Amino acid sequence: MAKYRIVLLPGDGIGRDVMDAARIVLEEVKLDAEYVEGDIGWEFWKREGNPLPERTIELLKTADAALMGAITSKPKDEAARELAPELRGKGYVYFSPIVRLRQEFDLYINLRPCKAYKGNPLNYRDNIDLVIFRENTEGMYAGVEFYPLPDEVRKALLIHPKMKKFENVPADEIALSTRIMTKKGCERIVRAAFEYARANGRKSVTLVEKPNVLRETGGLITRVAREIAKEYPEVELWEANIDAMTMWLVKNPEKYDVLVAENLFGDIISDLSAQLVGGMGFAPSGNIGDNFALFEPTHGSAPKYAGQYKVNPMAMLLATKMMLDYLGEKEKAERMERAIARVIEEGKVKTYDLGGNNSTLEVAQEVARLYREGV
Ligand code: IPM
Ligand code: MG
Repeated sequence: MAKYRIVLLPGDGIGRDVMDAARIVLEEVKLDAEYVEGDIGWEFWKREGNPLPERTIELLKTADAALMGAITSKPKDEAARELAPELRGKGYVYFSPIVRLRQEFDLYINLRPCKAYKGNPLNYRDNIDLVIFRENTEGMYAGVEFYPLPDEVRKALLIHPKMKKFENVPADEIALSTRIMTKKGCERIVRAAFEYARANGRKSVTLVEKPNVLRETGGLITRVAREIAKEYPEVELWEANIDAMTMWLVKNPEKYDVLVAENLFGDIISDLSAQLVGGMGFAPSGNIGDNFALFEPTHGSAPKYAGQYKVNPMAMLLATKMMLDYLGEKEKAERMERAIARVIEEGKVKTYDLGGNNSTLEVAQEVARLYREGV
């Protein structure tokens, strides 16, 4: 029996292109693993009314880790129109499979390394090496939302004096989203950030929040962070407001090290930081829980490029590298990262976004070659 069982979820559009790239490199990495493919994405929404079939969840339960390509999602009405005729009008509602997976498997860490690899012409600046720990299961994306606003909910909220001004707004003229944060949720994400900082010799962890306005939720995670920081005297805790932070990240991105944030704020700084190091073509993400993790590039499925093997596979290859790290295969992970870094630095084999005309698979083959030869 193989040491690891890994599920590959190619998904839609270019997700399949970049998954083929990942396979080329994985073949060279020679992990003691069994790879199984799982169904996810638009095709299954159209055919079955479910973009994340139950059998895929069951399959993931048997795996050590998963690698995902990309998923197409469309607004509710458009999604409903694309359903197979026999499924229409039966109450199927499209949902985001990745958000569901994060909840289902309690993948509370969304890990987003943003590193400016030497020679990447798309770097905003060199010497950027940020690692974001975004809370991935609660906060503003907990999914507790209401529209129209049920009476019971309005009544309950009226115990708060500031709710008074919304007292008479008709139910269908008011919508409510909640930001729910728990002490446990705050603790585990902050601790993960500090543990990472300690293990990797990082000097600071910056909590990105807005406690001056979001006093209760922001206050909770701030208190938790200050408490946990005491256990890591060698790592400094910095605190920044989300709005100011977007400015600082553009002004002095080199100054920051590890960032930790609630779900929505983390989502925002993740895209901002990705752009600092070359954009979506270079942005991998890990969704990590205590027993399972799923890795993905953060780009979408770019349907117009689907099947053309044109897009940059680097984000996917970096996600694959993160998976090796997660599995504890440090040597292979480092070797793979060196191969990736070399391909970027040499700039000989590159996709169109970098001014080249190599295919997705040629880039992967070059990474695989350098992996094999060792750099
Ligand atoms: C991400 C993405 C997702 C998110 C979307 C696809 C739901 O933007 O991984 O950052 O917002 O979490
Ligand atoms: Mg996002």
